[in-house]
Formats: sequence, C-alpha cells, structure tokens
Amino acid sequence: MKGIVLAGGTGSRLFPLTKITNKHLLPIYDKPMIYFPIETLVEAGIRDLLVVTGGRNSGDFLRLLENGKEFGLKHINYAYQEGEGGIAEALALAEHFAENSKICVILGDNIIEGSIAEAVRSFQQQERGAKILLKKVPDAERFGVAEIVGDRISGIEEKPAHPKSSYAVTGIYMYDKTVFDKTRTLKPSARGELEITDVNNAYIHEGTMTFSYLEGWWTDAGTFESLLHAANLVRETRRGKQKPHLAKAGVLQG
Ligand code: G1P
Repeated sequence: MKGIVLAGGTGSRLFPLTKITNKHLLPIYDKPMIYFPIETLVEAGIRDLLVVTGGRNSGDFLRLLENGKEFGLKHINYAYQEGEGGIAEALALAEHFAENSKICVILGDNIIEGSIAEAVRSFQQQERGAKILLKKVPDAERFGVAEIVGDRISGIEEKPAHPKSSYAVTGIYMYDKTVFDKTRTLKPSARGELEITDVNNAYIHEGTMTFSYLEGWWTDAGTFESLLHAANLVRETRRGKQKPHLAKAGVLQG
C-alpha cells in the first residue's frame, strides 16, 4: 500500500501563524506537525510516500524532510497543489503516484497516539472499496460525522449542526484505485471545496465502505485550541513513556 500525506491549504483558521509558513510546518511540542502523520504511516509499514503540498512555502518541506532519512526512508515523493480546492482536489494529484495500488491517505494535521497498522493490514485483505477510522469525540460538529446502523455505516455528514452520532471520521482514509474516478465526479461544496466526505459517501452508497475504531487519543491541529491541545497530548505521552517517578515529579527528561 502507498501512503499520501495531504499538507496543503492556507491554514486560514490559524492566521497570523500561517501567514508566512505552512500549517504543517508549525511545531507540535518537539517536532514539526508533518512529522506525526509521516511517522503514523511508516509505523504501519507504509514506506512509499507522497507529500502533497502547495503555496509559497512548499520548498520548505523538501528542506525539512529531505529524502526521509529521519523516518528510515530512502526517498520521499512530492506533489504541488496549485489551488486551494480542498482535500479531494489534493488527493486527485496523487493518481499518477498511486499507479492502481491501494492507498492510505492521512491529513497532515491529524495526530494520533496509537497505531493504524492493524487497520492497514485488514484493508490489505479487503477485496475492494474503502476503509475509514472513527473516533468518539465530545465535539462531533467540528468534523465529518458517521451515522452507524448496526455494524454498517450508512452515511457521513460534514460538520453537521446536529450530529447524528458522536463518531468523528478521522483524517485517515484507505482507498482502492476507484477513488480517482470518484473524485472526478465531485462538485464543490458550500465552502467551495471538493470534500473528502463526498468521496467517502460515494463508497458508502456503493456498499464497499468498512470502518474501524481508532485506539488511543486523536486530534487535529488546525485551530488555536486544537494546536495547543495536540502539543499538550504529545507532551503528556512523552512524559508517560519516561520513568514514572520523574514524570510524577514533573521532571522532563531530554
Ligand atoms: C476534514 C474533513 C472532516 C474530517 C476532518 C478530520 O475537516 O473534511 O470530515 O473529520 O478533516 O481532521 P477540515 O479539517 O478540512 O475542516
């Protein structure tokens, strides 16, 4: 399976922090944001990666990530998104890279505590279709929200005022090669973007969407609140992995 990290967009919800740099280069505690989704894919055994970015700071990604040595990789692929047309538009740029193989797409501001290795393994066995990862959250109206009926997902609503469940659709998506035909049929939403939720609903309507629940914490980092929250979660997790008596005494080891 190939991996795609989507790291474009204007990051307008973080102005002025994103006026002179790309959101995904901002720090999350001790690392640039983009490190986290890359680590998530690499940890799940995905080593063939494409980073899709754009805007004035796109060159900085190459300087930061180089050829991926930091992640144990020999090479990273890059694609340039010209417009600000949304997640599904960015995804469309990956068609050439995907070369008919299955893909795992992760939004560059999605940070998780655990692993997606099991979900990736299970999607490798899945004959066709897509797979998404859900997480129960207290503020579902901020996200794509899944409606679950029995053991099936019956639809996703993008940022509904009255969510039908508390299950957010995380920004980690697995697709078969038909995803690119699906992105071609999309029309821009009210916010003028091609929505990933419309891609996912196309799979749901075709009856080929599966899902699993993400273990451990999950956060995005695209607002001031979630950016700070993400940094605190990473910091707490690092402390938890240190010697318990030092963490308890508030001593942060290097
Ligand atoms: C996007 C998706 C949304 C998903 C979220 C996860 O929202 O549109 O369905 O739940 O990512 O981070 P955005 O960050 O573009 O508002």
